[in-house]
Amino acid sequence: MIYDRRPDDMERITTPELANAFIEEQVEVVKEQVGDKKVLLALSGGVDSSVVAALLIKAIGDQLTCVHVNHGLLRKGEPEQVIEVFQNQMKANLVYVDATDRFLDKLAGVDDPETKRMIIGNEFIEVFAEEARKLEGVEFLAQGTIWPDILESEDGIKAHHNAGGLPEDLDFELVEPVKILFKDEVRMVGDALGLPENMVYRQPFPGPGLGVRCPGAITRDRLEAVRESDAILREEFEKNGLAGKVWQYFTVVPDFRSTGVKDGKRAFEWLVIIRAVNTQDAMTATVEDIPFDLMQHIVDRITHEVSGVNRVLYDFTPKPTGTIEYE
Ligand code: XMP
Repeated sequence: MIYDRRPDDMERITTPELANAFIEEQVEVVKEQVGDKKVLLALSGGVDSSVVAALLIKAIGDQLTCVHVNHGLLRKGEPEQVIEVFQNQMKANLVYVDATDRFLDKLAGVDDPETKRMIIGNEFIEVFAEEARKLEGVEFLAQGTIWPDILESEDGIKAHHNAGGLPEDLDFELVEPVKILFKDEVRMVGDALGLPENMVYRQPFPGPGLGVRCPGAITRDRLEAVRESDAILREEFEKNGLAGKVWQYFTVVPDFRSTGVKDGKRAFEWLVIIRAVNTQDAMTATVEDIPFDLMQHIVDRITHEVSGVNRVLYDFTPKPTGTIEYE
């Protein structure tokens, strides 16, 4: 059956057996709901949409079309991983749209954080809607809505991020197979569906992506510095056992330069700020105690490998007073 709400007596999915039972049940539910019709899914590469994609591929195969919009603000390797896992390995119908220039042109010169978020959100819907209109006979829209999304929208904490926003001519019936699951259960199901570990257990990543880690007006050179320094930080945290221990970690490149010395010459370049925090619910957060020698190694790598960067800082500010992100 299609659940509207999580049954009060539903057992928490904590084992592969329970995850497999859930998958089998939902495969039947989706088949029943969709019949021989077509389904569309915006696949970001995040945990929830990836699990929905894998589940629907199992249930309805090529009746599903996934659209992956690269807004140019994704982390290093993310679009490539989406293509590798879903198109190459799972043989999904995947439409990959590289809309980088479109987003970055719209964002050029925009320095207000909320305006940046709005532009990214609106442009995303526009690109997705354009792709949806190109496809014939789609009647269903799949979404990675999860149980906390429903609870929070009922509490008025956040607008339900899904469904809302699509133009009226795109009037789809929703398919939400993980709607009654908590996040840890979605991860169990993702594991059972064979998704890669770094996709299932990845740290939270905001919808506006690296855009909020390039404070002020986004420029391509700073965006590249954020992407490359973030990749180094992630690589070092993975190698040194911190990836599974620290809740969220990333880099930020603010919009001012500082004087430094490189190869005996004055270098007036960007700086990178490292943020690494632990939290239960993201309402408050503490700063991770990163071993000093590892920190020195990361600083060395970033200043030598990331072009246009001559300085690295570590943010020791808990939340409050700082938020986790910078914008
Ligand atoms: P803050 O910065 O408010 O972040 O302490 C708390 C958590 O929310 C994430 N975050 C966002 N996620 N869209 C998102 O999808 C956003 O605009 C956004 N802003 C912050 C942030 O990464 C952290 O996990």
